Amino acid sequence: VKQVFASVLKVGLIGSTGYSGEELIRILIRHPKVKLVCAMSRSIKAPTGVEKRFGDLRKQTDLKLIPIDEEKIIQECDLVFLALPHTQTMEWGKRLLAARKKVVDLAGDFRLKDPILFEKWYGKKHTAIDELAQAVYGLTEFNREAIRKSRLVANPGCYATGVVLAAGPMVKEGRLSDTELIADSKSGITGAGREPNARFHFPEMAGDMWAYKVNQHQHQPEMEQALSRLGKDDIQVTFTPQVIPTDRGILTTLYARVHPGWDSQMWTQAYRKFYAESPYVRVRDVGDWPRLKDVVGTNFTDIAISVNPARDRMIVISVLDNLVKGASGQAVQNMNVMYGWKETEGIS
Ligand SMILES: NC(=O)c1ccc[n+]([C@@H]2O[C@H](COP(=O)([O-])OP(=O)(O)OC[C@H]3O[C@@H](n4cnc5c(N)ncnc54)[C@H](OP(=O)(O)O)[C@@H]3O)[C@@H](O)[C@H]2O)c1
Repeated sequence: VKQVFASVLKVGLIGSTGYSGEELIRILIRHPKVKLVCAMSRSIKAPTGVEKRFGDLRKQTDLKLIPIDEEKIIQECDLVFLALPHTQTMEWGKRLLAARKKVVDLAGDFRLKDPILFEKWYGKKHTAIDELAQAVYGLTEFNREAIRKSRLVANPGCYATGVVLAAGPMVKEGRLSDTELIADSKSGITGAGREPNARFHFPEMAGDMWAYKVNQHQHQPEMEQALSRLGKDDIQVTFTPQVIPTDRGILTTLYARVHPGWDSQMWTQAYRKFYAESPYVRVRDVGDWPRLKDVVGTNFTDIAISVNPARDRMIVISVLDNLVKGASGQAVQNMNVMYGWKETEGIS
């Protein structure tokens, strides 16, 4: 019994009341190799049964949400997930690394390698430059080896995950005839977080949709950085995010110009080969377009491809759940890689 206990990794979570924190709790309490020992949040003033916030967890766990306590999390945990708004995690990352903890950060603080670019897109000076240099970008499918050795994983943005998984193989194949990609992504409302906002109020949102942060979304430089590292060219992404009246899921339509010669079938085979060792990417048959309901509640990204040979225009559709593969599922996938466990451990 002692041996089994000793092999359990003790994990902590800061930001346990948010949407991605909630989803992390759901995954971590069932993960066979970890124990969630500290689930902390700012609005929690005294230990509170998790079922008081998330009713579906009644009788599933005896976990209590507790106030933020830095000393406690450092004393009791080996790895900490940070599920806080961006610009709120860089200082945490710095202090936790100094205390020799491992960290998976779900915010954007450690994603952009260039601190000047960070300041431009996030509107705040980066204060953890050394830690930023150590951080590894956690798009699992493209970075397993570096993630395995890392102590600080910058979990990717939800839109960036959908776009980079859709575009990555074509960039790696070196078959783009134009380095500019166009990405149009439609997201459910949980992408905006749990904090109430009149724009996302049900009567405002029902039957409506809109674009926002056009050419100004902070995931755009993240996509460009991730894709430019895959091949020899600098990749530009023109990106239009939109909100749609559903709770979760992102559907991305990606447009690219490719060299002639490969039809939809050949591209589909190439993508399948590329993702053959990736349990959470499913490349669909030509014409079998994925929908949000195929992936919501799962860690899968489904992808389908079509090429118009008359124009050498390729269209890739990807769908994922912004709170699972786009956030908490991928965070746990990265933890599994960091500890050399099966990538699917505890996620299903
Ligand atoms: N939602 C998504 O689809 C998604 C996808 C990928 C990545 N992310 C990223 O994951 C992070 C969390 O997103 P979310 O959607 O889960 O957010 P959320 O629902 O708004 O939750 C935010 C959490 O952070 C806490 N918090 C807010 N401001 C804080 C502050 N100044 N100091 C300390 N704690 C604070 C809140 O605690 P209290 O409520 O207890 O005060 C809450 O637990 C963000 O960086 C986001 O960009 C989100």
